[in-house]
Amino acid sequence: MNAVRSDLVILGACQLVCIGDRSRTSSTQELNILPDGALVARNGIIDRLGPSASLPREKHDASVIDASGKTVMPGFVDSHTHLIFAGTREDEFEQRLRGASYQEIASRGGGINATVRRVRESSKEELKVLARRRLDRLLSFGVTTVEVKSGYGLSLADEIKCLEVIAELNAEGPLELVPTFLGAHAVPPEFQNDREGYIRLLMNEMLPEVARRGLAEFCDVFCETGVFSLDESERILDRARGLGLKLKLHADELTPLGGAELAARLGAVSADHLLCITDAGIDALAESGTVATLLPGTAFFLGVDYAPARRLIERGVTVALASDCNPGTCPTENLPLVGTMACTQMGMLPAEALTALTLGGAAAVGRADRIGSLEVGKQADLVILDVPDYRQLFYHFGVSHVDTVIKRGRVVYQAGAGGLRGLTPTGSPG
Ligand code: NIG
Ligand code: FE
Repeated sequence: MNAVRSDLVILGACQLVCIGDRSRTSSTQELNILPDGALVARNGIIDRLGPSASLPREKHDASVIDASGKTVMPGFVDSHTHLIFAGTREDEFEQRLRGASYQEIASRGGGINATVRRVRESSKEELKVLARRRLDRLLSFGVTTVEVKSGYGLSLADEIKCLEVIAELNAEGPLELVPTFLGAHAVPPEFQNDREGYIRLLMNEMLPEVARRGLAEFCDVFCETGVFSLDESERILDRARGLGLKLKLHADELTPLGGAELAARLGAVSADHLLCITDAGIDALAESGTVATLLPGTAFFLGVDYAPARRLIERGVTVALASDCNPGTCPTENLPLVGTMACTQMGMLPAEALTALTLGGAAAVGRADRIGSLEVGKQADLVILDVPDYRQLFYHFGVSHVDTVIKRGRVVYQAGAGGLRGLTPTGSPG
């Protein structure tokens, strides 16, 4: 019998956690798990899945990874990050601990605009070095695809600078980046007395240039009391949609403004945050099929109430979990810890949390047909965990259980082997 032609073979996984299938992205309490599972990838695509016994070891021409005692799952899809920033804001962290609110700090010139000052002073190269470090950390926690927003430039040149950083990091790999234009993250200081002028700049100059250069796939707006109103958000998103961008919305994060309803009405791919979503907002998302992206790390770090994950799931809304990694409200790359918070603070079961971190995330970036679950024909984006049961990922919390990360069929990270492997070809682990 001829050897099986392939570029990656994984055998003997205690659990091969396939999640669900591309047609059903909503959270599930039942995962498709193969015990003693095997996976074969060819040209970066999953070619076979099944019991190890069906794939005898000696028949392969590729290097074989022995996953005995380990769990194999799809790579995490972190569908909401603000990774392009410079500087840190631990001073605001302390001010909040002393009783100031996020909004009070922002109104004193801190918050988003504090980071805007640092980003404007930074070169593209400096921003890229900082973002690269954050991407490496995400990779070490098992993330293989990451949505990255601009939003700390807030001028044509500075927003383009941030989006170019995203494009370059995406081209360099190994992580796949999904670029989002968030020019409507705040009104910058020079427009403080002319917010309409900033909205005109967004609609007439920034968005057309971003679209013309193909620098963003999504447009997002921080729709919030004191930031961008429902009407302003709608005008900006309408313009973005007209230019061919898909839509996301920071909705009902700090106040129940009705952002979820707006996102649903505009056909946004996702509505994000939703700490203050109302029942009407939940109904709207259920009807429109808009993904609810929940970011429990942000509620945890701000010390406020979590999003109503159970009510969203019960209404059949597709839920994604993401990091929101940013310097103000959630400075972390630890996505498995976000899963633990989803379980202990929002009442999600481990299976629901894992689905939301993989297939839910893929749906939130419009890629559920290609990534987010282990299915024949999907991209071979995989994580091998050094634990025999996927639930330990959330149970033994705060540390990384990642043994190996595989992107498009190639090993790109190995714990204990110097970490990053860049784009080196697949080999069997030592
Ligand atoms: O997702 N809500 C808006 N943006 C971020 C916070 C940004 C910042 O404070 O720098 C968020 O929470
Ligand atoms: Fe955010």
